[in-house]
Parts: sequence; structure tokens; C-alpha cells
Amino acid sequence: MREKEIIKGFSKLDKEEKVKKVATYFPDAEKVEKELKSYWHPEKSKQKLFEEFAENTISNFYFPYGIAPNVIINGKNYMIPMVIEESSVVAAASNSAKFWSTRGGFHTKILSKTKIGQVHFIWAGDAEALKAVFPVLKQRFIEGSSEITKNMRERGGGILDIELLDLRHEIDDYYQIKASFDTIDSMGANFINSCLEEFAEILKNYISEQENLKEYPVKVIMSILSNYTPECLVEAWVECDVKDLEGVDPDISAEEFVWKFEKAVQVATVDTYRATTHNKGIFNGIDAVVLATGNDFRAVEACGHTYAARDGKYKSLTFIELENGRFKYTLRVPLALGTVGGLTTLHPLAKFTMELLGDPQAEDLMQIAAVSGLANNFGALRSLTTKGIQKGHMKMHLLNILNNFGADPTEKQAALEYFKTRKVSFSAVAAFIKDIRK
Ligand code: MEV
Repeated sequence: MREKEIIKGFSKLDKEEKVKKVATYFPDAEKVEKELKSYWHPEKSKQKLFEEFAENTISNFYFPYGIAPNVIINGKNYMIPMVIEESSVVAAASNSAKFWSTRGGFHTKILSKTKIGQVHFIWAGDAEALKAVFPVLKQRFIEGSSEITKNMRERGGGILDIELLDLRHEIDDYYQIKASFDTIDSMGANFINSCLEEFAEILKNYISEQENLKEYPVKVIMSILSNYTPECLVEAWVECDVKDLEGVDPDISAEEFVWKFEKAVQVATVDTYRATTHNKGIFNGIDAVVLATGNDFRAVEACGHTYAARDGKYKSLTFIELENGRFKYTLRVPLALGTVGGLTTLHPLAKFTMELLGDPQAEDLMQIAAVSGLANNFGALRSLTTKGIQKGHMKMHLLNILNNFGADPTEKQAALEYFKTRKVSFSAVAAFIKDIRK
């Protein structure tokens, strides 16, 4: 491939020109151009919609859109759409859903729904004088942002509280305006950021007008929502009598399974290396739903991992309770999701997801995503503590390996049959393909 030079004005090129430009770096530019264009949507208007989500688009990147059926949540049966590239995630969610469908299904509850935004600023004046005027300032923030908050207030949400935090012990002259919001069914990032920028302006102007304060101008560092939302919290759990777990695996009794399962959760609570993988498995399920709904998976991940480390040590997001012969397994996770605004109604498949989920409100979606996370984690622990993860995982991965060898449908069929009773590995599949192609 040709060395890349610094390009001026790439963003000004149209899509065709961008494709051409990128293709020039490859030995066979024509082939690359054709390949990139083959993923353009055949309907021009749809292609335009997709490419306008972000900048400098040259093609679309396909991910599978799968379904986990039979997911009973609080007695209601859902088909959960999952967008994920990793084989066995949808299968794990589906298997867990089926398993729990005859044991009461999944249960959920919303614990809280508050979001946070901050104005970070530096002020060198008298702290007590600032604190004394804060009640007036707070009122001005609320009144000054009333146009921005009007619609949200009409929908039952808006600003919940605004505090002044004195953080001079952390950084010289550093204060924070910490505001909490209820953004109802929207994720609310734009709403919160608009309010905060308004607060920052009001703050600067107010201080500059007060005789006893104006000697020191406010230096606003930044105004931005926090993606850490420990008060936007949902719980999902499964529970049944230990004896009803009989059959969870043919080679293990219910009691032994529960014993091992409990130890696995304890390990993920005390060991950070394991906790990270344990929580990664939870986010396999959560992210897949978040993506299918056009929500911001980076925000959800960042928040979840911070929450997992809230005690100063990164731990499992799930916990187990065993009492009076009952097994109860719970995931508690912050999930700031929206069902209106952003891509949720703009991306045609995100829109379809919402329809398939019965047009959920944000609270419903939080519960569905949490269940998907718990279902995946339960599936992972069930395999890990019994037959091991590779057996199922490699079976699912078989098609990927076959595709790597460019296997045709007949070869695939033969391989699926052959590996029904054999251990799948890359080298075993390579040997099989070599053999049938002789
Ligand atoms: C793989 O994507 C996820 C697992 O590693 C999760 C876990 O170990 O709990 C199977």
C-alpha cells in the first residue's frame, strides 16, 4: 500500500471523490472502489441518511441484526433485537431466556432515573460571598433556562436540583455547579448540555455585575453532562428454588451448580481480572441492545465500568443471594438510555427495534437492556462452570472459520455435519477443508 500524505480538504470532497482518494493507496484501486461501493445502500435516500450520521463517510459497515426470542420480563414475552458481531452472544441470550422462561422469567425494577451535568469553573474570590449568593444564582439558572426546559417540563421532567460544590481542596479556586435532571424518555445529552451552557453564561454575567464579587471574573473551564449516572439505575434478576435448577446441565446436580456458580460470582467480586471479563460478558448483552436501538454504547460502557469501580475496586456488577433454598441472581447497572431523539427514531432499524419492543419508554428499555446483560452473563457462567465455554463458542464460531477458508455451501454443510460430534478448532477445520478439497 502507498504511503499516506497529509491531505488538505478531504471533508470537502464528495463521497465518490473520497472513495477514489482512499482507493488510490491500494495496488488495485478499481477493485477497492467497487468493494466499498458494494456496501452502499441501493436506495439513494437511505444511503444519504446513513452517511449523514457522521462525517467523511465512504461506505457502510454491516453488523448482524439478530433476535433473542422468548425473553419473559415481568411476565411479558419479548423478542429482543441484538446487534453484535461476536458469535454465540445471541445464542447465549436465547438459551438463558428459554431456560428462565419456565422458571418465572426475568424480573426488573427501576431504582432511579436521574442524570447529572456539571459546569466546572475557577473563581479566586471570597468563597463565603459566592455561597451566600448561590440561592439567587440558582433561581436565575432555573428562570434563565426556562425556554430550553419548557418542553421537558411539559413532559414531566426538567431540572431537579442545582448545587454549588466547593472543590478548592482538589484544585486551587475550583468550583462546580452540579445539576441533576430528569430527561424522561430522551437520553438527554443535548438538553443537559444546553442548560449547562446557559447556566455558565448566567454565572459569568451575574458575578461580573455584583460589586462585592466582580473583582474576580469567573473562568468557566467547561460545561458538559456527566456520563456517570449512578442514580439512573436498574435492577434485573432471576430467581427460583435451587431444586428447580435441576437439569441446568446433564453432568451436574442443581446443588453443585449453585455452589460453583456462587464461587464464580465471588471470584468476580474479589478478582479484578475476572471481574473485567465477567462484566464484559454482561455488556455483550447490553451493548447489543443499545446498538440495536441507536443509543450511545460508549456512554453506557463508560458509566457501567465506573459504577463497577465505585468502591475504589473494580468488581462484578452482579450479585447472588442464597436463602431458604432459593437462588436469586441480580444485575444492578446504571443505564442512561433514550427512546426518543438521536438515532432512536432516525435509523430505520433502530425505529424497527422500538416497534418490535412495543414502543418502550426509556424505563422499559433500561429494563430490557439489563435483562439482555443478565441473560448473557448467566449463559456465560452456566457454560464456564459446567462444560466450559469453548464447546459452544467454537460450534458457533465454526461458520466464521469456514468463511475464512472461503467454504462453499456444500463444504459448509459437510463441515457442520462432521463437527457435530468433534471438537472445533482452527487447525481441525483447516485439515477438514484440505481433506475434502483433495
Ligand atoms: C466472551 O465474549 C464473554 C465471556 O468471556 C464472559 C465471561 O467470561 O463471563 C464468556
